[in-house]
Amino acid sequence: MSAIDRARNLLDRLPPRIAAAIIGGAGKIPKMRGVLEAEYEAMLDAAPIVRPEADVPVYSRLPEVGRDRSEIVGFVAALAEAERGDWSDGYASGAVYHGNTEHIEFLNEVYALQSQSNPLHLDVWPSGMKFEAEVVAMTAGMLGSGAAAQNGDEIVGTVTSGGTESIIMAMKAYRDRAGIAKPEMVIPSSAHVAFDKAAAYFGYKQIRVPVDGDYRADVDAMANAVTRRTVVVAGSTPGFPHGVIDPIPELSDMTRERGVGFHADACLGGFVLPWAERLGYEIPLFDFRLPGVTSMSADTHKYGYSAKGTSVVLYRGRNLRRHQFHVATEWPGGLYYSPTLAGSRPGALLATAWAALVSMGEDGYLHATESILTSGARIRDGVGEIEGLHVLGDPLWVIAFASDDVDIYEVMARMAERGWSLNGLHHPPAVHIAVTLRHTQPGVVERFLDDLSDAVDGARAAGGEATTGAAPMYGMAATFPARGAVNELMTRYIDRIYEIDEE
Ligand SMILES: Cc1ncc(COP(=O)(O)O)c(C=O)c1O
Repeated sequence: MSAIDRARNLLDRLPPRIAAAIIGGAGKIPKMRGVLEAEYEAMLDAAPIVRPEADVPVYSRLPEVGRDRSEIVGFVAALAEAERGDWSDGYASGAVYHGNTEHIEFLNEVYALQSQSNPLHLDVWPSGMKFEAEVVAMTAGMLGSGAAAQNGDEIVGTVTSGGTESIIMAMKAYRDRAGIAKPEMVIPSSAHVAFDKAAAYFGYKQIRVPVDGDYRADVDAMANAVTRRTVVVAGSTPGFPHGVIDPIPELSDMTRERGVGFHADACLGGFVLPWAERLGYEIPLFDFRLPGVTSMSADTHKYGYSAKGTSVVLYRGRNLRRHQFHVATEWPGGLYYSPTLAGSRPGALLATAWAALVSMGEDGYLHATESILTSGARIRDGVGEIEGLHVLGDPLWVIAFASDDVDIYEVMARMAERGWSLNGLHHPPAVHIAVTLRHTQPGVVERFLDDLSDAVDGARAAGGEATTGAAPMYGMAATFPARGAVNELMTRYIDRIYEIDEE
């Protein structure tokens, strides 16, 4: 048994806070620090650091003479080609949401035409603003701006670089609108990590409230967590971990009664649920048709089927959006305004998002959603039939599953050996697959279910704790009581992935 296993056995028996204090304290004793250092290094060496498989030269400094462009294109093409099979053949959870070759070529063509555009220079590229304003309007229209208008509310927004920036911007707007010391946000435990980043960046106290037995936000518990200092409450529609939709109508009522902001995070579902509803799926209201919903996020770079790098953040009314903007009137660099986090912004991605929306149209989104939800239902039913597995909550197309019988991380590792890139979850230990158009290709659902069934059999035969690939590491991270040590390990992992393997 390794030193870390012995330590873990011991720490596992202690309450988490005491275990954390022991690990924290141990790091301060020079001799123990040495032991911990060695263990961290050993665990990092065991963790798989994936490097590209194509034979492309490594550059850790500039070449003295620039290389030939055609050669460079060849290198990049070789890297892309080596990576294509995994996602293109439907082996990845989420990641690539459309991925059809003609669609990608179309987006690339639009990108190439606008690759120099920067909406910061409105006079040079007024088209950037056209694209952005129309993407916002089209997305808002999908998410209930018409109903809001009937009540005299205007839904406005901006395009950002992704779901995380959309959430960060909305949280900034709520903080600045409130203008109070120590603002608080109340969110369900399942809400995306982007809310943690926003809390850290903007000095929020964050209250994460445990979800209920169905993995949905617990409205009563969240209501109890609201204080005088709460400036925003959030819910997900659906949430990333279990793909379940929080009770948005109830949260809307609750926040409205208390006069606090309510962000409905539709990063994942914004471009699916409106069409699911039209297809006849019974989905409670989740958008600006609910008067308590004061902001939303919806990702064009996920189920909006654009290229990576855009999302839409929407607000009920211009006043809230103004608190997202930054204006500088005294800077020697001139009068400066910036609607989002970045200064210069890629106009090409605004054009690409606009092109994706306009080319998909309502009929395209309806059709895509129908295929995804059909495949999602088949996966959900199929997983439920595999002995030893059960589906968590009541999901539509992001299907999380767990087991009381086999180690689910071992199952995930065995799926990885078969080429699958699934998402590991914890609290409780589980795995999910986010179904995209890639999984609607003929044979993919069957292959997933067959491989999953084999992986469960393999894990059962192996018995005991996870042994394969990254599974022991994941299992440790999910259950290790000293969270500070897990945090340190992950931070070192980030350092490590930036290292260049010299030839
Ligand atoms: C519900 C939800 N919110 C926010 C995000 C963050 O989006 P991004 O990865 O584009 O920053 C995600 C990403 O999966 C998500 O699923």
